[in-house]
Amino acid sequence: MCGIFGYIGERKNAGSIVIRGLKNLEYRGYDSWGIAMRLLDGSMRMAKDIGKIGAVDDKDFAQPCSLAIAHSRWATHGGVTRDNAHPHFSCDGRIAVVHNGIIENFEELRSELESKGHTFASQTDTEIIPHLVEELLKQKGMTLAEAVRSACKRFMGRFAILVLDRQLMSLVAARTGSPLIVGVGDGECFIASDIPAFLEYTRTVEYLDDGEMVTVEGGKIRFQNIQTGEEREKRLVTIDWTVADTGKGEYEHYMLKEIMDQKETIQRAVHQDDEHILQVAKSIETCLGCILSACGTAGKVCMAADYFFSVVAKRHVNFVTASEFPIYHHFLKPESLIIVVSQSGETADVLEAMKVAKQSGSKVLAIVNTEGSSIARAADYTLLINAGPERAVASTKAATGQMAVLLLIAHAVAGKLNAGRTLLLETGGLINDMLNPRYIEHIEGIAKKICKHDNMYIIGKGWNYPMALESAIKIQEVSYIHAEGFAAGELKHGPIALIEEGTPCVALLGNDEFTSDILSNIMELKARGALIIAVSPVRHTAFDLWIKVPDAASAQPIVNIIPIQILAYLLAVLRGKDPDMPRNLAKSVTVK
Ligand code: M6R
Repeated sequence: MCGIFGYIGERKNAGSIVIRGLKNLEYRGYDSWGIAMRLLDGSMRMAKDIGKIGAVDDKDFAQPCSLAIAHSRWATHGGVTRDNAHPHFSCDGRIAVVHNGIIENFEELRSELESKGHTFASQTDTEIIPHLVEELLKQKGMTLAEAVRSACKRFMGRFAILVLDRQLMSLVAARTGSPLIVGVGDGECFIASDIPAFLEYTRTVEYLDDGEMVTVEGGKIRFQNIQTGEEREKRLVTIDWTVADTGKGEYEHYMLKEIMDQKETIQRAVHQDDEHILQVAKSIETCLGCILSACGTAGKVCMAADYFFSVVAKRHVNFVTASEFPIYHHFLKPESLIIVVSQSGETADVLEAMKVAKQSGSKVLAIVNTEGSSIARAADYTLLINAGPERAVASTKAATGQMAVLLLIAHAVAGKLNAGRTLLLETGGLINDMLNPRYIEHIEGIAKKICKHDNMYIIGKGWNYPMALESAIKIQEVSYIHAEGFAAGELKHGPIALIEEGTPCVALLGNDEFTSDILSNIMELKARGALIIAVSPVRHTAFDLWIKVPDAASAQPIVNIIPIQILAYLLAVLRGKDPDMPRNLAKSVTVK
């Protein structure tokens, strides 16, 4: 949450660079924005406001400047106001700071600083940082880097910060918990929460590890451990994302573009090294207890994987929501295997779950989309889903890519790796055929019929049950319709009381052993007046509206979620909502 981006180098348009780059991080938070620029004449220019960074013109920040920091906020401490927008400044206006994360002990530090005469202009936890740095700089011989290091040693919580000193041509950054990546160019450096901020300029990066800081000055980049001050050597890594991967292409919204990317991403997900997959399969077979953990959509993917392992591999694995995972620490052993799944690779609850797993000596496999992310680097083993950057807040192609990798692993555990790969490659082809304009128009017709409803329900059985839950997340988060997913058999135990004449109910079906049961549940809904919208390979008379999907055997949940992603997208558009940046949300949830 929150995007931060800083530039230092030889270019003279640092202000425009950071504003433009920050627009590429807007998915991280978009309630307010701000910038601090050290102009070439040594003065500081600051601007901040509430609203989206997307609406800001980078040309307004084209004054000669080679050092700038900027921020796009997702509010935690302090409401969405101009005063609370970052950057925050020291009393003398010399130090500017942007921050992602939460300083948990800020109240205590704020009282201490107030007692020393500092005055505060916001309600944020962040503002203690420039004041504390200012205070430390009063000590004789203290450098900016040392002051930032000493300040960081006092912070509790998670943070990624960029610090600019009006008096110096240097940029200092530090992280604990929240992500920061250094983009290395020729005579210039970019420091950002995420790679898309600087992809236009460089694909060469150095990763800042947890508990590290970096100082860029005089063309040199110096990494240090925050606690000890010890210098760290870093490896330059070339990332394979391109600027084109991060754009909207021909589409109006990222969400639609990413839905359409699924024509290719299933094939890309199964492009895995056989040896590696077989090793993972062996670990699952030999471990004493395998637990899947993730949040949100990735969590629903893990629930689907429970069924994959059970049905395809006859192997029991458990899913535990990452935010609840620490409660289960009693059951973790050095022989346990924890599989975490995350698109961003930065989700705080997942990182916390991994910490708990590691404390018990358990091994962790991470299935992620973002190479070099905190989760990827903290895991013992990593598998990438190769979906390319996902920028819409609603996860689409990452979810199906994650399911593809997990289904492939389940087949490998069953000793059927090749059959699994063939199934998934064929499924990718079926999805490619499915995603055509006529198909989308058909779903649009259905969206038009139901877009004015306030409530809708989604049911599924077997591996379509987690997809019913995932459908509800998709519809809620982008269209703001109250949507709920249920195991079809649970309806009669309570939820059926919600059904009224015309209530839209979506049923997810396959061509499998669950069909006759769910058809009975559909009849129960229909008898109470529900409008039945079925996603199914086969038509039944009970359906009022039918969205045909290909028959994809155990890959059915991958196929079935796609028309729902389209439906959610169209409902959002028809209701006048921005599907890429839903209210109250951020793409990467780096706070607990
Ligand atoms: O980056 P992650 O996959 O770890 O994110 C997990 C959830 O925050 C994410 O899936 C969220 O639920 C999406 N907005 C759903 O579309």
